[in-house]
Amino acid sequence: MSFEIDLSGKVALITGVTSGIGSGAAKAFARAGAKIAGCGLETKESSEAIAFLEEMKLAGADAVYSCTDLTRPDQINALTEEVLACYGRIDILVSNAGANVFEGAENCSEERWMENHQLNLTSHWRLAKACKPALERQDGTIIIMSSNHAFSSIPGCFPYNITKTALTGLVRSLAIEWGPAIRTVGLSPGFIDTPGNQTWFNSFDDPQQEKEKTIGLHPVKRLGTTTEIGGWCVFLASEYAAFASGVTYLIDGGRSALMQD
Ligand SMILES: NC(=O)c1ccc[n+]([C@@H]2O[C@H](COP(=O)([O-])OP(=O)(O)OC[C@H]3O[C@@H](n4cnc5c(N)ncnc54)[C@H](O)[C@@H]3O)[C@@H](O)[C@H]2O)c1
Repeated sequence: MSFEIDLSGKVALITGVTSGIGSGAAKAFARAGAKIAGCGLETKESSEAIAFLEEMKLAGADAVYSCTDLTRPDQINALTEEVLACYGRIDILVSNAGANVFEGAENCSEERWMENHQLNLTSHWRLAKACKPALERQDGTIIIMSSNHAFSSIPGCFPYNITKTALTGLVRSLAIEWGPAIRTVGLSPGFIDTPGNQTWFNSFDDPQQEKEKTIGLHPVKRLGTTTEIGGWCVFLASEYAAFASGVTYLIDGGRSALMQD
């Protein structure tokens, strides 16, 4: 007998599907048979949104896309209502969208701090609250995308690392307050090969050399893929992970196991 995850009939609301990890998660849930409600900052007419819908079609998945700015509470409510009007249910929330704001503790302005907290922290709480009644009806699952920066960081990656650390607290609070009707878990990916991360490497004089140096810090000797993180999301939403709750899982290619000297 093969080991299978079948999410057919379920609806997964995934944020940030127009790029990177969100796109990888959408493809993984589509392969598992779920219906996908995706959102991103890009318009419905953008090449990224069109590519998302085409990928979903190729995978044989029923999918919709909404242009949503998750820093706006009114748009979060509109997104949730739109998904419910379209599919009538939400079984899984993958709260993934976020941005790298790397300013440093001394140089970070109040504006940049607030801006990053609005997206990387507050929007996850607001979206979870907006989806709560629908998730409760389905014994739903919330997966919150944190980062390896929740556990250790690099000088200058402030306030991003603060927001990602706080998300591990959000995962614990939702798990203990909203369980057992809703199960909440977090994922902390390490370096995943995405456009977001390429921007980080591009900030160095020699991006290729920096990338190779980073790869060398990983026992697995490569960066992670969006397919792998998508697979983790599907597993965490499945019956096989039903005993997982309140914890944020670190998926970092072994990087944190290597002591720096
Ligand atoms: N790439 C990595 O190595 C890595 C590692 C750890 C954690 N993460 C986290 O994973 C998540 C996705 O990262 P990525 O590298 O795939 O990002 P990315 O930059 O490739 O894509 C970001 C996505 O979020 C959406 N988005 C951005 N601002 C938004 C807003 N205000 N409202 C709605 N949508 C918005 C974009 O439209 C896009 O779809 C982020 O939370 C990030 O912090 C990424």
